[in-house]
Amino acid sequence: MNLVSCSVVSNHEVSAGNFLITLQVPRSFARPQPGQFVHLRVGEDIEPLLRRPYSLEGFTERGALRAVRVYFSVVGRGSGVLARQEKGTKLDLIGPLGIGFTPRPRRVPILVAGGRGVAPLLFLSRRLRERKRPYVFLFGARSRTDLYGVREIRGGRLHLATDDGSIGYEGSVLDLLEREWTGARHTPLTAEIFTCGPHGLLHAISDFARERGIRCEASLEGPMACGVGACRGCPVPLLPGPDSGRYPAMCVEGPVMDATIVDWARLP
Ligand SMILES: Cc1cc2nc3c(=O)[nH]c(=O)nc-3n(C[C@H](O)[C@H](O)[C@H](O)COP(=O)(O)OP(=O)(O)OC[C@H]3O[C@@H](n4cnc5c(N)ncnc54)[C@H](O)[C@@H]3O)c2cc1C
Ligand code: FES
Repeated sequence: MNLVSCSVVSNHEVSAGNFLITLQVPRSFARPQPGQFVHLRVGEDIEPLLRRPYSLEGFTERGALRAVRVYFSVVGRGSGVLARQEKGTKLDLIGPLGIGFTPRPRRVPILVAGGRGVAPLLFLSRRLRERKRPYVFLFGARSRTDLYGVREIRGGRLHLATDDGSIGYEGSVLDLLEREWTGARHTPLTAEIFTCGPHGLLHAISDFARERGIRCEASLEGPMACGVGACRGCPVPLLPGPDSGRYPAMCVEGPVMDATIVDWARLP
């Protein structure tokens, strides 16, 4: 277990209720893979006691300085406390944790983000760009103000969708995926999907992928307690098949998992 202290470099609200926090971490924090997460103590006080899991939006390394970024929404007590942490505050975190995305060589990665789920996919897109790999980024949100990070997406082909039509296609990012798949003539041997977003969207994308035999990895965001495989508090139900009856722990066998075997209807 890699517990490290960290300090807040910056923390600001990028859109209503959504924050970007940058945390300086020591050299003992291993270079993370996109899709991995940290289990973060959100404040200096004893309460809230439990850490909160957050995917990494990015990781930077300049000389001896290392920093991680987390893009988060205020949804309850813990995230509310995190939003109030100011520059210089000392926190700690465990990480990097879990399994990240695993793009295969010679396949076009199609990244499909829903709302706040864009965070780990932005990280993945930067890694792909560093490796000069072409990719497609499909990003859907309620409105244009929820499209965090679009200007960061470079080196790939980007398509946007909004529910209110304020920018890009008016409708679901799933429609964009259907259009991309047929329009660009991808096949399961030439392309694969990486996705993160609300579970309803991930469920629909995994059905899309399973029906067509497409490899599809999703980053799950269920409730977690220990974050390191000790409490059995984050079981992922699987569909009938070779693995049915097994409940992999989301924190150690995920959060990135084969989306086509997850039983989304039974996921908490
Ligand atoms: C691997 C992983 C990565 C995540 N990455 C991000 C991220 O990049 N950005 C981000 O904003 N959030 C992310 N989350 C969700 C984040 O952990 C929760 O929003 C946070 O723990 C809520 O804490 P809270 O005390 O503010 O809310 P609580 O008061 O605990 O709960 C408020 C509401 O949020 C729901 N909730 C609580 N915990 C979770 C959870 N783990 N997942 C989904 N819903 C939850 C509750 O059911 C409730 O409706 C991630 C979760 C996981 C497991
Ligand atoms: S949160 Fe404890 S086993 Fe996953």
